[in-house]
Amino acid sequence: MAAAIMKLVTTLLLSTLLTSCVSNAYKVLIVFPLASGKSHGILGEAHVTRLLDAGHEVTYIAGILTKVSSPRLRQIDVTSNAALSSSGQHLDFKYLLAQKDRLSFSRDLAKLCLLVANSTLMNDQVQRLMHDPKEQFDVVIVEWLFSELFVGLASVFNCPLIWSSSLEPHGKILSLIDDDPNPAYVPDIMSDILPPFTFSQRVIELWKLIKGKYIIWEISFEAERMYELAFASAVGKRGRKLPPYQEARYNASFVLGNSHISAGQATRLPQNYASIAGYHIQETVKPLPEDLQKIMDNAKNGVIYFSMGSMLQTKTMPDELKTGLLNMLGGLQHTVIWKIEEIPAKIPKNVHIVTFAPQQSILAHPNCILFITHGGLLSTTETLHYGVPIIGIPVFGDQFINVNRAVHKGFAKVVSLGYDTPVHLKAAIDDMLGNPRYRKRVKELSFIYHDRLVPPGKELVYRVEHVVKTGGAPHLRSPALMLPLYQKMYLDLLLVVIVVLYAMSYMFEKLLNKLNTLFRKQKSLGKQKTN
Ligand SMILES: *[C@@H]1O[C@H](CO)[C@@H](O)[C@H](O)[C@H]1NC(C)=O
Repeated sequence: MAAAIMKLVTTLLLSTLLTSCVSNAYKVLIVFPLASGKSHGILGEAHVTRLLDAGHEVTYIAGILTKVSSPRLRQIDVTSNAALSSSGQHLDFKYLLAQKDRLSFSRDLAKLCLLVANSTLMNDQVQRLMHDPKEQFDVVIVEWLFSELFVGLASVFNCPLIWSSSLEPHGKILSLIDDDPNPAYVPDIMSDILPPFTFSQRVIELWKLIKGKYIIWEISFEAERMYELAFASAVGKRGRKLPPYQEARYNASFVLGNSHISAGQATRLPQNYASIAGYHIQETVKPLPEDLQKIMDNAKNGVIYFSMGSMLQTKTMPDELKTGLLNMLGGLQHTVIWKIEEIPAKIPKNVHIVTFAPQQSILAHPNCILFITHGGLLSTTETLHYGVPIIGIPVFGDQFINVNRAVHKGFAKVVSLGYDTPVHLKAAIDDMLGNPRYRKRVKELSFIYHDRLVPPGKELVYRVEHVVKTGGAPHLRSPALMLPLYQKMYLDLLLVVIVVLYAMSYMFEKLLNKLNTLFRKQKSLGKQKTN
């Protein structure tokens, strides 16, 4: 009897507790539209899990669906966006070897991103969501990808919007919430140089800034048309008017940056930007599969983990290069775990090929002594989290600057992708494993990475909740957004100074002329008198 009463009381207590929790639960709409690029999916999923774990209700518009399941999670499938992405060729080894091409910010990239955003918004299910007045959200979180088209979602649901940026802080996103950083010492997101810049580097960075602004301005007309088409009717159905695109663009409440000072450059940041890299890493490490656990435990000379990520398919790698790499790796005393998609015919004894690698669990193993990577942002974050030095073989996008920064910070070496990669890679491995300084340095940076007030996953939740609780965090808004460029640059003052100077010189000249004539008159008068 007593037990039954106790049970009833606990149930009652629990349910009141739960309802009180639920009353603090927010409805969150998360949009990660990219259908290619697994790392973007990982970041999107991390937002979903973090917010679900905090008790919120999530609707996830996903280019890559998550396997996470929860009664509080609803997914909207926009995986068909994959058809739009023509970037496939950038991710082909042969293409990269031949072209030496680097993905740079161009009109094509901006257009592609705009198309992805547009196709996400025009998706039937997304349109239905927007047109149903019963659908309400407290906040919208969208991955920023070279376009601000998604800002209309904030007007549709009459709630604040938060950008999630997968890159280091850069001008294209900072200018949306504050101002462009100075190109004299903050490189463009696609540049791989580090300050202090030479004269020509400074000029090139300024040029990139201007060119980027021009491209965005040029594209913004098309974006504006798409914005009207995607949102006007849904906003109208909810009894409101769609604000002008150019106003809405600069109205985001917050930016969550997948960056951290341990990997990046010390940059001035506005109050509504938080650097929270590492939020995709769960606090507890998942156990390794049994075979890998055994291999890593028994690796007397340590394990080298080699993975070029998920976007670059090793099956496009020329055989010549693959054999060269295998032979080189086979000559090492260390155990090697190589993640590739196709298992080669002949594999050296110390090399273990895996087609799927639980990367974080491998890096977390104390015997993991080196990571050979393309240097994507997630990989560099993970190496700092687990304190493993890297050899970077960057192939596209921000990988060049990530690796360059890691080299500059002293925990990495860079090897370029080419037919001679095996030779250079061997030299880099020998140097890195023969010299304790890389390992020492990565441990120091790992300390900086971990030494934060709150872990990044907690900070993500806190920032999102803060934006909701304060109605879009207007107190964090930078006043820089209130004034046009000419006022920020004091061009109006310059104009005033020029006008005043001109007027003064004009009057001075007039005065001189007057005096001159007066003087001459007097002189001639004097002459007449003497005559
Ligand atoms: C800007 O955002 C705030 C709060 O998130 C909202 O109240 C306001 O209507 C928005 N203004 C525009 C022009 O979108």
